Amino acid sequence: MTGSGGETLSNLLHEERRFPPPPELADAANATAADYARADADRLAFWAEAAGRLEWARPFDEVLDWSRAPFARWFTGGRLNAAYNCLDRHVAAGLGERVAFHWEGEPGDTRTITYAELTAEVCRAANALRALGVRTGDRVAVYMPMIPETVVAMLACARIGAPHTVVFGGFSADALRGRILDCDAHVVITADGGYRRGKPSALKPAVDEAVRECPDVRSVLVVRRTGQEVDWTDGRDVWWHDLVDAQPAEHEAEAFDSEHPLYIMYTSGTTARPKGILHTTGGYLTQVAWSHWAVFDVKPDRDVFWTAADIGWVTGHSYIVYGPLANGVTSVMYEGTPDTPHQGRWWELVEKYRVSILYCAPTAIRTFMKWGADVPAQFDLSSLRLLGSVGEPINPEAWVWYRRYIGSERCPVVDTWWQTETGAQMISPLPGVSVCKPGSALRPLPGIAADVVDDTGTPVPDGAGGYLVLTEPWPGMLRTIWGDEQRYVDTYWSRFPGLYFAGDGAKKDEDGDIWLLGRVDDVMNVSGHRISTTEVESALVSHPRVAEAAVVGAADPTTGQGVVAFVILRGDGAAPGTDGSAGADEVAAELRSHVAREIGPIARPRQILLVAELPKTRSGKIMRRLLRDVAENRALGDVTTLTDSSVMDEIRERLPSGGTGSAAGGAGAEEA
Ligand code: PRX
Repeated sequence: MTGSGGETLSNLLHEERRFPPPPELADAANATAADYARADADRLAFWAEAAGRLEWARPFDEVLDWSRAPFARWFTGGRLNAAYNCLDRHVAAGLGERVAFHWEGEPGDTRTITYAELTAEVCRAANALRALGVRTGDRVAVYMPMIPETVVAMLACARIGAPHTVVFGGFSADALRGRILDCDAHVVITADGGYRRGKPSALKPAVDEAVRECPDVRSVLVVRRTGQEVDWTDGRDVWWHDLVDAQPAEHEAEAFDSEHPLYIMYTSGTTARPKGILHTTGGYLTQVAWSHWAVFDVKPDRDVFWTAADIGWVTGHSYIVYGPLANGVTSVMYEGTPDTPHQGRWWELVEKYRVSILYCAPTAIRTFMKWGADVPAQFDLSSLRLLGSVGEPINPEAWVWYRRYIGSERCPVVDTWWQTETGAQMISPLPGVSVCKPGSALRPLPGIAADVVDDTGTPVPDGAGGYLVLTEPWPGMLRTIWGDEQRYVDTYWSRFPGLYFAGDGAKKDEDGDIWLLGRVDDVMNVSGHRISTTEVESALVSHPRVAEAAVVGAADPTTGQGVVAFVILRGDGAAPGTDGSAGADEVAAELRSHVAREIGPIARPRQILLVAELPKTRSGKIMRRLLRDVAENRALGDVTTLTDSSVMDEIRERLPSGGTGSAAGGAGAEEA
């Protein structure tokens, strides 16, 4: 990230802890150092071999056709069916009685679904979609809670070659409508509602509202989950149990071209209009299956795998549905929130189902830190053998906490970097090979080529920072933005010609290992130094009193930008000023010096605000944009993607009056 002064991203935070793989894991690891060597020697041959994890109805002719770059075609000429690969072939191999999902509803109801049962249900649903007139290539929108029918719906779409677009159930009617219209879906699959925070939470009313202005939606297929009252439009609305249950449990899975569209997943961009990220079949399924097998070291006959994310995000698509099922693995799926009915719900599930591999987001880990280590300590977590993290940079302290209190100092933690656009994990340790460093995703997986470059696209040396790029195409890559090829080229391939621009800042350490530093728009410029918000947040979280921190750069007449931190204290630390412990001012002063000690005086926050909650998107990412609005005393921008908009009112109330516009004035007691 070369600035005008030729300065690269300041590489300030130092982390010396090292965690080698446990010997028993290394001895039996699925992926070994030889995988790096083979992929380095011949990347395409490596992926061709990985494609052998799937069953192809017709073998492919060519591994990669990059002649129309940046529009890739992987495994050209090959034909396969994604649902067949996730289901029928396991049943045919005699694994029909293996559990595909241990599903647990938030109220405590459960369902155990074997591969044979899931296959039969997907066949019925595929027949039902055909009965509704869905043809191969038609798009189907899915707006569902976390129930087994959501997986069934996705696989039924895949089975008939109708790309699904799953819209997260927490999104509004507006967001749903925009996505339905953008991809021109004519059928919507939904439910009356789902359970969240101890109550039924309705979904059908949002669908009714959304499709009022979607004239081409002719059918709405509705699962009964909560038994809530629903409005009904005759001729359009159909109950799942009426239509699907009446279908035959046999359905011949047709093989489709390797490049046949599998799904569209909408993700937000810098403009208001979301981007429809298109994934296709053969390459995507190859990379999710390989990465799930290698990064999680899954042993399908004994592991119990749990991705604790929503299916409405790419993490759910790749590591609840397609990866685990392609590998014939047993998974846990949980409908509700982590604190319903108590803060130990996840750990109760780990104990109950003997979960051996857990994959979740740093935001969840930091929430558990806030609730305190005594919560997981009440449960038997001895079945766990591997932990994963995804979605944001994980602060070293959160990483160490996760390993200590969830993983009993025994389980490796794999920090996996990837994106909706990449389809599958890209930069991550291999748990049987890598010596882990808390907070680093280390290096690209075998078969993946990534680098960190400066403004001119030149790789930075070890020890320096810049922009993360992917330098070679990969099988699970997005193929385009639905309906907008130019936006695909402009967004990802124009900043650095020939390189995929991920939009993330990163640095290479002295060993060449990669540290992700957040989105590049989250970089601050303080007195000409480029400072990563992630590094300052990590320094704050390394203080024993801090559970979570969000840092933004706010305009500052003296330094360009000043560092403003929003901090949540840990649950076991009493609220400042209420019990004779240090007051808010003292805590803030202590934290400011702590950051200065950890990183350097340049990163010392101008201002620290102690808050109860942080504004987050529904996928758990901190909305720094809103915090920047607060820090710069502006009217708030769009808050529609916020989980809970009252959080922002509360944060504003904590603001010292008079605004925060300058380094010297207005920042109250926290001022330097
Ligand atoms: O900024 C990176 C961050 O999440 C972005 C991708 O978000 P999304 O498309 O919603 O996919 C999330 C699940 C794959 C990235 O550009 N990100 C994701 N994983 C990590 C990460 N940042 C740092 N470390 C990670 N492990």
